[in-house]
Amino acid sequence: MSTGAGGQDLGTVLVTGAARGIGAACVAAFAEAGANVICADIRPPDAIAATLSDSAGSIRTLACDVADEASVLALFSSIDRLDCLVHCAGIIQEMPLLETSADDFDRVIAVNLRGTFLVGREAIRKMAGQGGRVILIASDLAYSGRETFSAYVASKHGVLGLARSWARECAPEILVNALCPGPIDTAMLAAESMSPEWRARELDIPLGRFGQPNEIAQMALFLAGPGARYITGQGIGVNGGSVMP
Ligand SMILES: NC(=O)c1ccc[n+]([C@@H]2O[C@H](COP(=O)([O-])OP(=O)(O)OC[C@H]3O[C@@H](n4cnc5c(N)ncnc54)[C@H](O)[C@@H]3O)[C@@H](O)[C@H]2O)c1
Repeated sequence: MSTGAGGQDLGTVLVTGAARGIGAACVAAFAEAGANVICADIRPPDAIAATLSDSAGSIRTLACDVADEASVLALFSSIDRLDCLVHCAGIIQEMPLLETSADDFDRVIAVNLRGTFLVGREAIRKMAGQGGRVILIASDLAYSGRETFSAYVASKHGVLGLARSWARECAPEILVNALCPGPIDTAMLAAESMSPEWRARELDIPLGRFGQPNEIAQMALFLAGPGARYITGQGIGVNGGSVMP
């Protein structure tokens, strides 16, 4: 295992959704802390390795569609040891219920929920017998619900269910938690072409601003480290107070 500047033994960390947003911030934070980071994304994440070449840890990039079982199995066949998973790959969908087709629903569930199942299952298979940390990404909307986002919200409820069930099934060897971010300033929200009303509503939270991707990455780093050894099965809000479950 490699020891980071903070004295953490982070070992090898797989970050999915690594090409941008929260995943890219996690790659930067873990590499900075000395981890050996494996970056996976459906987009070529090669640019990440170039921008982080001076960081303390090592970085390897691999292509993977997390919704596709063969692609996930191919990814894991090229990984020898894994100490931590940070599973950030995901998509969002804003769509009124009565306009949502079964295919629309299935697409979100395939990436966000089936993808979490596939990647999480294979990560836990690697960690069995040695221990490790699994960090999933749900959402504050998993607690609050949100009109016109029901497929997305359902997928994130499902992610919480996986985290809680795996935490019980894999204890005490492997710790499993889900981060529940509030609105974070990434392309995912920009791609929503948010109306001023939608944006104003998102900002109507106690801290009155969007979070930054690194603010999620810092919590992931904490969950991967020694300070989190008594935390498992939790949905952890990093949300500016948007929900208080
Ligand atoms: N941004 C927010 O406000 C927010 C809030 C709560 C939860 N989240 C969750 O955090 C995670 C990261 O979100 P983000 O804001 O960084 O989004 P983003 O769109 O900026 O990044 C998502 C990444 O996932 C990758 N990806 C998408 N489908 C994939 C697939 N099938 N296989 C592999 N990679 C795939 C994309 O290529 C992209 O690089 C998501 O799960 C999202 O639901 C985000």
